[in-house]
Parts: sequence; structure tokens; C-alpha cells
Amino acid sequence: MRTPVIAGNWKLYKKSAEAVNLVSELIPLVKQTTGVEIIVAPVFTVLGKVRDVIAGTNVMLAAQDCFWEEEGAYTGEVSPGMLCDTGCSHVIIGHSERRQYFGETDTTVNRKIKAALAAGLTVLFCIGETLAERESGNTFKVLDSQVCGGLGDIPMAELSKIIIAYEPVWAIGTGKTATNEQAQEAHAHIRALIARLYGRDEAEAIRILYGGSVKPENIKGLMAQPDIDGALVGGASLNAPSFAAIANYKL
Ligand code: 13P
Repeated sequence: MRTPVIAGNWKLYKKSAEAVNLVSELIPLVKQTTGVEIIVAPVFTVLGKVRDVIAGTNVMLAAQDCFWEEEGAYTGEVSPGMLCDTGCSHVIIGHSERRQYFGETDTTVNRKIKAALAAGLTVLFCIGETLAERESGNTFKVLDSQVCGGLGDIPMAELSKIIIAYEPVWAIGTGKTATNEQAQEAHAHIRALIARLYGRDEAEAIRILYGGSVKPENIKGLMAQPDIDGALVGGASLNAPSFAAIANYKL
């Protein structure tokens, strides 16, 4: 049985007071939620404040990115060890916005994943095709190269610390969710690839989240799919009642 994960990626939103308000409003709404791992990913600058508010609750803390070196002359970067030190248990790596706007490649994503695992973080590893890639019939090819590139040299023993997030780029922030069938097809493909790379048991165990315009209205249909194990939520995670409604989905 794979425990579902509902993670909120706050992206570049919420200064400290707003972040504290959002998470303070969220906590009582998900207090009774069992059998679901709930994660929030605020910006770096408010991680410490959010950590203090969620202490002792069932809400966990993720960062939205990290660097691959632990320390050194790397102005502006934040290392995995520093994220642990700040109270993060998880980190998002390889989000399409980072690939698109900040030049991240499968190679840099792979380096970051390895460093995050070495520091003891659980990784939310993002993959997903663009609209052009889907329309040209290359979805599976793109997913294969992102998975193989991102997980290159990562041993089987580390796989339990990786959660894959399939986020079709064309569904992010557009209000255009993949249909349940499109999402399921991609998730099944990714799971089959993990089975080829690591074996059947690992493929059965790994959580694969869907991301892209997830809302309270569509979470149930997505979660009813056999290979969808949760959601990485952007816009709808910026509102406590809507994120809580997603985390509290009932099949
Ligand atoms: P939206 O839910 O706003 O489409 O964003 C999805 C996403 O990118 C989560 O990482």
C-alpha cells in the first residue's frame, strides 16, 4: 500500500506574515487527516517561520530547490544540509519552472537529487512534457529521458526517499488539468519504467504524484486512478480551505 502524498508548492508567493497565516489556517483543517502525508513548500526565506508553526503537527516542510554542494563559494545558493538544519524533511527538485527559466537540465537535477539524498532529505522529483512534446507524440520519450537522467547512478536503496511528481507543463497554472486517463497513462508508463530500471517491488512502492491545476473539484477523479498516489498542488495550495479539501479528498 502506498501512502498518498498531498504537497503544496507555494512557488514565489507568501511573505512571512502571509505564510504564517496560511499554514496556521491549514493546520486545524487537516488535523484529523490520517493516511495522507501533507507537505508545504514555502520560499526559502519563510521556511524557519513555517517550521515553528507546524512543529508537532502532521504538516511537513519542503523547500522548492537546493544546490548540489554542501558549502563553498557559491553566492546565492542553499545547500541540502542547510535545508535539514532549517527543518525541511523534503525538497522539490527539477520543477519545470526551474528547467524552463533557470536552465536546469537532467544533469543538474541528478546532481541535486544525489546531494539531497546524501543529506537525508526526501526528494519530490519533478518531470513532465511540454505541449509541443505531447503534440508531437514525444511524451513517453521525454518522460523516459527525464527519469533516466534524473535518477542516473541512484541506487535502489535510495529509491524509497524519492517521490516522483508528474507535472505536464501544459497543465501547470493553466486551469487545464490532464484528464484522469491521460494522467493515469503517464503514471503507468513511469511506473513501468521504474520496474525496468529497479525491479517490480520498487516500482510498486514508489509514489507518483500528479501536478497541474489540481483543485478540490478534480482531486477525487485523479486519486481514483490506480497509479496516482497524490498531488503536487500549486495555485490551490495558496488557500488553506482549498488545499485542505484536496488533502481531505475521499474516494
Ligand atoms: P498549479 O496547481 O498552479 O497548476 O501548479 C502546479 C505545480 O506546478 C505544482 O508544482
